[in-house]
Amino acid sequence: MELLKTREELQSWVNNRSSRPRALVPTMGALHQGHASLIDAAVKLVDSGDVLTTIFVNPTQFGPNEDFASYPRRLEADLTLCESHGSTAVFAPEAHHIYDSNSSVSIHESKLSRRWCGASRPGHFDGVCTVVAKLFLLAQPNTAVFGEKDFQQLAVIQRLTRDLNFPVEIVGCPTVREADGLAMSSRNTYLSEEERAAAPILHRTLRSVANDISRGKFPSPEVAREEIIERISSETLARIDYVDVVDSDSLEPLDSFDNHLPRLLAAVFFGNIRLIDNVGAPQSIR
Ligand code: PAF
Repeated sequence: MELLKTREELQSWVNNRSSRPRALVPTMGALHQGHASLIDAAVKLVDSGDVLTTIFVNPTQFGPNEDFASYPRRLEADLTLCESHGSTAVFAPEAHHIYDSNSSVSIHESKLSRRWCGASRPGHFDGVCTVVAKLFLLAQPNTAVFGEKDFQQLAVIQRLTRDLNFPVEIVGCPTVREADGLAMSSRNTYLSEEERAAAPILHRTLRSVANDISRGKFPSPEVAREEIIERISSETLARIDYVDVVDSDSLEPLDSFDNHLPRLLAAVFFGNIRLIDNVGAPQSIR
């Protein structure tokens, strides 16, 4: 496995291997089994081609009061994980290889980014779109793999790819969970023991309400949403940022379940740590 640290190294690696299919796995490092599953999926997708994992804590997607400075950075352990899962190369640049000091252009997605994580974290998706577009241009992948845990991000990146005509197939991979259902996240390591014990209520509630939706228990998405809020609020360590019931494809909030595949989205603080999760309601079993 090759470690590429500069834009020039990446570009010459790409030029030397231009005939091979290439899958990109963009990450911010602090890799866990969720990321490993993305690399595994990428390896399968390109068959005997290349898998390029990127490790870059992207400053432009963090707000001024967010955890950019304290975000976990563990390059050595990350490289071991990438190699053992079959990455051909890792691109792990310093920020100045991605952003020139006086750069003044960014990408703004104006519809899907407005709500939920976009509303709670102003500018976040501009940062995500800008860095993902830069990685696409530098790495020129055929395919790029992202986790469904960041469901809104996946939709925004699909839109970015479509609207800017990137010749990249976007593949979403299912969320990998701890034994108690908590979605794997680099931020889980910040949770105190009590917060970690409380956090599985997020997935438990979403899954249970999703199953109840499929059984026809709720007359409307709004009643299902209220149920999620009530159940999560029963946990004293939990503070809800948002909860919504949306259409899986368009991400539009639902007024009715008719002809829709609902997706339940939520972000909840446990202490200062904001966790996100989402669950799709299975096809109706009424
Ligand atoms: O999901 C992430 O880790 C990041 O948002 C991404 C896609 C690597 C862009 O920095």
